[in-house]
Amino acid sequence: MIDEPRSYRETWQQSIDEPESFWLNAAQGIDWFVPPRTALAASSSTAGSARWFPEGELNTSYNALDRHVIAGRGNQTALIYDSAMTGTKLSLTYHELLGRVAKFAGALRANGVGKGDRVIIYLPMIPEAIVAMLACARIGAIHSVVFGGFAATELAVRIDDARPSVIVTSSGGLEPGRVVEYLPLVQKALTLSAGSVRTVIVRDRESIPGSAADFTGPGETVWLDWATEEDAAAPADPVSLRSDDPLYILYTSGTTGNPKGIVRDNGGHAVALNWSMSNIYNVHAGDVYWAASDVGWVVGHSYIVYAPLLVGATTVIYEGKPIGTPDAGAFWRVVNEYKVQVLFTAPTAIRAIRRVDPEFLELKNYDVSSLTALFLAGERLDPETFHWANDGLHCPVVDHWWQTETGWAIAANPLGIEALPTKPGSATVPVPGYAIDILDSKGKRITKAGKDGNIAIRLPLPPGALLGVWGSEERFASAYLSAFPGYYATGDSGHFDEDGYLFVMGRTDDVINVAGHRLSTGSLEEVLTLHPSVAECAVLGVHDALKGQRAAGFVTLKAGETIDHDTLARELVSLVREHVGPVAAFRDVTILDRLPKTRSGKILRKTIRQIVDGEPYTVPPTIEDPTVLDALRLAVHAAAPQHQP
Ligand code: COA
Ligand code: AMP
Repeated sequence: MIDEPRSYRETWQQSIDEPESFWLNAAQGIDWFVPPRTALAASSSTAGSARWFPEGELNTSYNALDRHVIAGRGNQTALIYDSAMTGTKLSLTYHELLGRVAKFAGALRANGVGKGDRVIIYLPMIPEAIVAMLACARIGAIHSVVFGGFAATELAVRIDDARPSVIVTSSGGLEPGRVVEYLPLVQKALTLSAGSVRTVIVRDRESIPGSAADFTGPGETVWLDWATEEDAAAPADPVSLRSDDPLYILYTSGTTGNPKGIVRDNGGHAVALNWSMSNIYNVHAGDVYWAASDVGWVVGHSYIVYAPLLVGATTVIYEGKPIGTPDAGAFWRVVNEYKVQVLFTAPTAIRAIRRVDPEFLELKNYDVSSLTALFLAGERLDPETFHWANDGLHCPVVDHWWQTETGWAIAANPLGIEALPTKPGSATVPVPGYAIDILDSKGKRITKAGKDGNIAIRLPLPPGALLGVWGSEERFASAYLSAFPGYYATGDSGHFDEDGYLFVMGRTDDVINVAGHRLSTGSLEEVLTLHPSVAECAVLGVHDALKGQRAAGFVTLKAGETIDHDTLARELVSLVREHVGPVAAFRDVTILDRLPKTRSGKILRKTIRQIVDGEPYTVPPTIEDPTVLDALRLAVHAAAPQHQP
């Protein structure tokens, strides 16, 4: 045991100077079948793929469930399910959740799933999503959860990359005013993909048509009913896994159309998330923690499922929206009803509530005094939204910055260690374990306070961060490690101020964040060019007052094309919906005679974005034809309010 340092600064310094003792100490918060003797495998200290706790063996599902039951907390509530869409409310104790997970793990095993096999989970926000994830973890299968808002094509891409033997799904999800039937989507994805899937297990949902019995194939694929499989199964015990055995793959947008399968280990992940709950969120066993996100995103993986259960807290799984289900008081109702202590959501959700209820009238109907903090992530927390939430909620509002790749916060206000003064617009300070530098384009460290550069993390990455990219060592190196030797390149830009506070300002690549959902403009461009009338296109993330950013497409027509512009715009919008999914929320299309380009043919994306966002810009000296910008300005003006910032 090392002495627990008290201040944030001491804790962070110790994590960087003595990572071995720091993380071995944190590893004591986890129950190991074989305890680790070393923290970081020697061979991986400066490699991108850090191997944490090399001799350790554990099971993540055991740590999330069994150990709490063994410790006598079996009757404590593990999970609260609240569906604003159906009015259903349900809670499961640790004992009950363990029973369901063990049975479903048995069902997976009975269907031939074993250690290292991949299982795709395509489920809405229902308790079965958590059950399925933990059941995979229990038998060493690697889950890959796919968000329900993606189209069949995106699901097929993930099937082809992960090559799962089983897909676990449901008859569907519920969106305001719309039922999303999953089963036809799954069948289409199976038809489009190369055919690794032997079994589809379907959880029926009342009021949503479709069940396993209605489907067959393609080929030998069989469709089975979840309830029948779970009922018939013998409970499975947790298997002992190596610390660096993969727990899950989660796909995220990269700079090309092909999403990257981020691979997470078992040991580093369990240690980091367990540590984060008490040190960052100040949440402990028995507390109620609610991450209002979706299990399809990393926030959902880490903070709806794993972290709260690892520490023995109660997690809330909410099916609904911040507004309209039924009103802008939905979040406050849930906080009031379950005495939520920490709420974690995306700034866009808070902006949505503010837009409908700027005076906090709905809040007055509820008692939210249980809230000790509101944590926000997924996109930058704009100071205006920060002030509004801070004034209304009377609890700390914490912006924290992280990525699918890291799995937990890189910068935050570590409330469990020391609540630091907040600075609006800043994600506060580097989290212990993360050594952050700001680098210029040549990789030279920028030490001047306030000067923006590339935000990079010194290797090794701490426990919990990605093990690699599924199926490609090379892709991991080229995407993250080659830009700045010795560093992991985050793809974000920003600066430190004179007090060491980090300000994350935006991406340096083509990744955009729409309502906290990460999208690649490159992949949207690939879809637009599928249209036979489109010659060239550029998709950009432009400012959106609600969603932070939205994707706006600029296209030119092939020579001789006479298609009506409104028709083309409609067809392009449906093409994106069909290929990427509704989550892209792609609605803005501007048709131009020419795109602004440099003389060497590079599209001037930054200038287009500045024009759309109404920002001042300088005409680039390398521009091929400056009059194209005049035409763009006119087109953008004519398209208002679509392009209104
Ligand atoms: N399954 C199927 N479709 C989905 C979906 C899901 N799980 N989630 C969203 N969609 C659809 C929506 O129905 C909508 O479809 P539509 O074009 O037919 O209306 C489309 O995807 C865009 O959805 P969204 O971006 O959610 O926009 P919205 O206008 O419906 O709602 C907000 C706006 C701000 C209320 C909403 O985006 C929100 O709650 N954001 C919080 C984001 C969040 O939690 N992010 C996770 C990171 S922490
Ligand atoms: P995702 O992998 O979907 O979680 O998206 C990660 C990206 O979202 C980061 O690289 C940032 O660009 C952005 N992001 C997440 N949280 C924040 C934050 N608190 N401040 C600024 N940007 C953020």
